[in-house]
Amino acid sequence: MDGQRRSELARRMSDLANSFWAGEAEICRAFWAVPRTSEEQAHWLRLQVFKEMYGSGLHTNPEGIIRGILDDLRADVERIETRADREAYDRDLRVLREEFAHFRLYADILEGITGEPINLAGLRSWQLAQDRRLGEVRQGARERDKRLGALAVGFTEGGGSAFFYVGRDIGGDPVSEEIARACRVVFEDELEHGEHGAHELDEALETEEEWTQVREMVVAICQQRLRMRYEMFGFPVDEGRIAEIAEGKIEPLLMTAS
Ligand SMILES: [Fe+2]
Ligand SMILES: [Fe+2]
Repeated sequence: MDGQRRSELARRMSDLANSFWAGEAEICRAFWAVPRTSEEQAHWLRLQVFKEMYGSGLHTNPEGIIRGILDDLRADVERIETRADREAYDRDLRVLREEFAHFRLYADILEGITGEPINLAGLRSWQLAQDRRLGEVRQGARERDKRLGALAVGFTEGGGSAFFYVGRDIGGDPVSEEIARACRVVFEDELEHGEHGAHELDEALETEEEWTQVREMVVAICQQRLRMRYEMFGFPVDEGRIAEIAEGKIEPLLMTAS
């Protein structure tokens, strides 16, 4: 495959993803278009706290993403021999730090609202049905093809940071302002996590067939991500609109720096 064809496929993959990211952003904007009570914010915060700890199938470890990265780091510490190994290990340390910070940021806001500590034993019960399904879709992609599935999962991590992008601009009350501050931090980190996934994808895919397979996996994951956000934010748009977004009837998300 020549470089021109490779860039063409990468651009098409990025366009496809951008439409889905726009859909996630539209759902979040619809939710925050009206002032929300602390209890309404707590509804999605509970799922987000769960997601930052467990990752909803981002990591193969059933104990979740934080525990998964910790276990990987512990297992790999005696295997880091090359420059590339050291670079990858250092990145994993940073990602662990970032994912824990995300968990902390949202957990602190939630604890501020409820006045209750985050009961880790009960954390799994905060997962919503469509997020559980997202974990299954990610796992299904890896079962179809371990390497390509992992690439599709990495590429779609964080949903282009669209939810955090929108969350940065909310305000009007102390809880919303705290959410916006958290989203500003998470937005920057997740943007990089997604870009890293896109870079890995471009480097790894060799044939038309591989691009096609990953594209199918990306569509399946992104459609389920949309369902997850829809449930997470209490179904703030029409069901019909979700179907339209899933068919690509939406302007791609153009993020502007602010
Ligand atoms: Fe995160
Ligand atoms: Fe992440």
